[in-house]
Amino acid sequence: MRIGILGTGAMAAALGGAWVRAGHEVTVGGRDPEAARRLAARIGATGGGDPAAAVRSAEAVLVAVPAGVAAAVVEPLAADLAGRVLLDCTVPMAPGPDGPALTTAGGGDSVARRLAAAAPAARVVKAFGICHESIWTMPRPGFEGAPLGVPYCGDDPDAAALVAGLVDSMGCVPVHCGGLDRAALLEATAVFAIGAWWAGGEARHVFPSPALAPGAVDDDEEE
Ligand SMILES: NC(=O)c1ccc[n+]([C@@H]2O[C@H](COP(=O)([O-])OP(=O)(O)OC[C@H]3O[C@@H](n4cnc5c(N)ncnc54)[C@H](OP(=O)(O)O)[C@@H]3O)[C@@H](O)[C@H]2O)c1
Repeated sequence: MRIGILGTGAMAAALGGAWVRAGHEVTVGGRDPEAARRLAARIGATGGGDPAAAVRSAEAVLVAVPAGVAAAVVEPLAADLAGRVLLDCTVPMAPGPDGPALTTAGGGDSVARRLAAAAPAARVVKAFGICHESIWTMPRPGFEGAPLGVPYCGDDPDAAALVAGLVDSMGCVPVHCGGLDRAALLEATAVFAIGAWWAGGEARHVFPSPALAPGAVDDDEEE
């Protein structure tokens, strides 16, 4: 798959590197084209340059910039993004009195919705924002004998299928969590999990499947 990346920071490097290892053709674009070329060379991407260079031939484009500027970064590229899958990994988070707070709380749209408004002909999918960047540097992310599940939300079925294939190519399990309206839940979940880690908790132990409970009976057996 041809993937463009907007941004040259930690997530661009980690996900871009993972996609190169998975055999995809990655192009990096940044506001500093020289930094984009340096990152491309470091992760083995095929090209680097300005943001438009990352979009031009990509089937999917990752937005890997701070949540607060993501829509402004995407808007000038809207025409070029038409028809392409726009992957939104941003987490709208700021320090709050009780830990990290959701900056889109209080009636604000999710970042994913803002991106959809900034590039109306792009097919936005919220994905890859739940995990810390270090997870994507693992050759095949997985824990306790199971591959990593990657939740994603999007309205367009073809875009969702493309993301499922991309996740699968990384050795992970795609977890479709509904349409783009549910992206706000993914954004809030990321902030919640980060708050739990910062408080010394272990977020992965907060969401065990009921099927793992001792004595659990699966639905098929009950029938
Ligand atoms: N780091 C994580 O573990 C993690 C995990 C999940 C989700 N995320 C999300 O992923 C996104 C990227 O995070 P990151 O950790 O990769 O951040 P980062 O390392 O700080 O990199 C941010 C990138 O955005 C660029 N940028 C900043 N302001 C910009 C602007 N006004 N216009 C254009 N480009 C701008 C930076 O360019 P310069 O280098 O020129 O400043 C840099 O390339 C964020 O939305 C974050 O919430 C991060």
